[in-house]
Amino acid sequence: MNTPRPAAVIILAAGEGTRMKSSTPKVLHRIAGRTLLGHAMAAARATNPEHLVVVVRHGRDAVAEHVTSVDPQALVADQDEVKGTGRAAECGLGVLPEGLTGTVLVTYGDVPLLTGETLADLLASHTTQGSAVTVVTAHVSDPTGYGRILRDADGSVTGIVEQKDATPEQVAVREINSGIYAFDATVLRASLAVVGTDNAQGEKYLTDVLAIARSEGGTVRAHLVEDLWQTEGVNDRVQLAALGRELNRRICERWMRDGVTIVDPATTWIDTDVTIGADTTIEPGTQLLGATTIGSAATVGPEVTIVDCEVGDRAHVRRAEAHLAVIGEAATVGPYSYLRPGTELGAKGKIGGFVETKNAQIGDGAKVPHLTYAGDVTIGEGANIGAGTIFANYDGVAKHHSSVGRHSFIGSQTVVVAPVTVADGAYVGAGSTLESDVGPGQIAVARARQRNVDGWVERRRAGTATA
Ligand code: UD1
Ligand code: CA
Repeated sequence: MNTPRPAAVIILAAGEGTRMKSSTPKVLHRIAGRTLLGHAMAAARATNPEHLVVVVRHGRDAVAEHVTSVDPQALVADQDEVKGTGRAAECGLGVLPEGLTGTVLVTYGDVPLLTGETLADLLASHTTQGSAVTVVTAHVSDPTGYGRILRDADGSVTGIVEQKDATPEQVAVREINSGIYAFDATVLRASLAVVGTDNAQGEKYLTDVLAIARSEGGTVRAHLVEDLWQTEGVNDRVQLAALGRELNRRICERWMRDGVTIVDPATTWIDTDVTIGADTTIEPGTQLLGATTIGSAATVGPEVTIVDCEVGDRAHVRRAEAHLAVIGEAATVGPYSYLRPGTELGAKGKIGGFVETKNAQIGDGAKVPHLTYAGDVTIGEGANIGAGTIFANYDGVAKHHSSVGRHSFIGSQTVVVAPVTVADGAYVGAGSTLESDVGPGQIAVARARQRNVDGWVERRRAGTATA
């Protein structure tokens, strides 16, 4: 059987979202590393529609720009000053080919947990039944604020009434309209043309399409979902956090089922686009963000925040923060290390305690174990950087690059005043301030020679315990 394909998905995202109390449009707020709209668009795209439309108005330019950056194929439709979900859907149809036929799915930009599978189920049930309209509904304990599903004596759906327009009897109904629908395109277009604004809110309601389609002889059905989170919208920041936590719980659960140990899912935050290999352990207090990938049999955490990083198999990263860094196979990082963009740590390499790195390529097996700043430096394989070494890359005007050759050894408390090249197989004495290059096989010692003064304590500290 062919998987049905919607002619279009229209995502309504023109509403104002006043309860967010934000200068950022509501649908651009984020959970799990994506905007609310980004989640909605991913679910829509998963149904493989011929056209994907996002209807915008509030925060128009920012939202439109985001739509295009997430999905360059998506179409942006502007809603005019006529208010309501019906008008929004109509404006969405307006950017589609005239006379489009097939199924049009309508969803919201602020319902981030809705999945592509649920949309696919909706589409399948809609097309199998040959319906004119199928609305996704849910039974809830508190239906306040939602549109109520109206059914006749034999249980078939007759329409939807908004709470503000409902009779007390209708208000008591606990089957609600999720706002997610499948429509026959022709029916949707024809019905919207006759929907008015004669209601409590003076808006053009998309919900009115159901009764109109039915009166024209079309089949109108409900597609009941059990997973209420999938129909939940974000209206304020309390809901944003609640949906964010639930989405994170789902993401953690998915990785655990795929063979990842997550010691404490409640304090582990994993963005949607992260990938993790089997047999990796995530310790408590860890955030894996952005486009991070973690290999297998690695240990990450406790207390690690990594953003857009690549962590190799069997690597061990604890109590660290890393951005745009690559951590090689079986390498170790932390505790208390800060890896900034451009850090590349080779296989079995080490970035130890209280070390900051930036644009630092550290070779296989090389070690930067303690209290170091390594900025703009290339460190060859097997090299050892002594405790307290500073690569002084900035002269107050420009940044300069240094390099340390393979298997070289930098003594503790060295300042490398960039640009300096230390060759392969060279040594630098502890406490040096290095301003020029060191050749292969050499040792450089760049510090004052030690001077011991006989009898000094007796002369200058007479009468003390030391004397
Ligand atoms: C709507 C439904 C209601 C349903 C509820 C589910 C109507 C008339 N009512 O009510 O039956 O239970 O959703 O959450 O459809 N939007 C636009 N343009 C507009 C108005 C809204 O794009 O002019 C978008 C919003 O950005 C939002 C969605 O449509 O994504 C829903 O809008 P909202 O105002 O929250 O609708 P409700 O009144 O909650
Ligand atoms: Ca709403």
